[in-house]
Amino acid sequence: MVKVNACIFISGQGSNLKNLILKSRDYSFPINIKLVVTNNRDAYGLFYAKKNAIPFVCIDTKKRQFENQILYHLKKHNISLICLAGYMKIISKKFLMKFGKNVINIHPSLLPKFKGLGTYKRILKNNEKKTGCTVHFVNEKLDAGKIVTQKSFYISKYDNENTLKNKTQKLEYKIFSEAIIKIYRKS
Ligand code: GRF
Repeated sequence: MVKVNACIFISGQGSNLKNLILKSRDYSFPINIKLVVTNNRDAYGLFYAKKNAIPFVCIDTKKRQFENQILYHLKKHNISLICLAGYMKIISKKFLMKFGKNVINIHPSLLPKFKGLGTYKRILKNNEKKTGCTVHFVNEKLDAGKIVTQKSFYISKYDNENTLKNKTQKLEYKIFSEAIIKIYRKS
């Protein structure tokens, strides 16, 4: 199988990165992870890039030309898919246009509900019955592109921010890879 070259953008823990690296070892999984990009040189997730000998770049987003710098590395590694996995920086419309290929994001809510940060707290405060996670294409608006995959579960009265996060992330590991398979499945 010819695989697509993918780049994962992270800012923190990188548990989704870890899971995608594992999945990508399967010969029938459509992507190879060729690059990791971060805006946080202390991101724990860089450990998984290092451990698996995946090239990574730390970008200083305070520098004016930082998006061009990222584009340079994407081109160098012939990247056709960007997966945002806890990347805490908005991608500009200009960047999306210049890249011109698929960019997807994983978000810990049932979009279009609860866009943005602090999702678990807001979900609990709002007494939601269900929650879940969503993989969507990225456009210039926050958490607003076309949905690829979404999965939900019922919230229990014993749930708190921590348990919600654990349950949601477990589901994220499933749907991120399912979404990638869906995008590249030959129809
Ligand atoms: C994920 O829960 C994702 O939904 C959100 O950021 C979190 C990143 O977690 N966008 P990790 O860095 O993959 O562990």
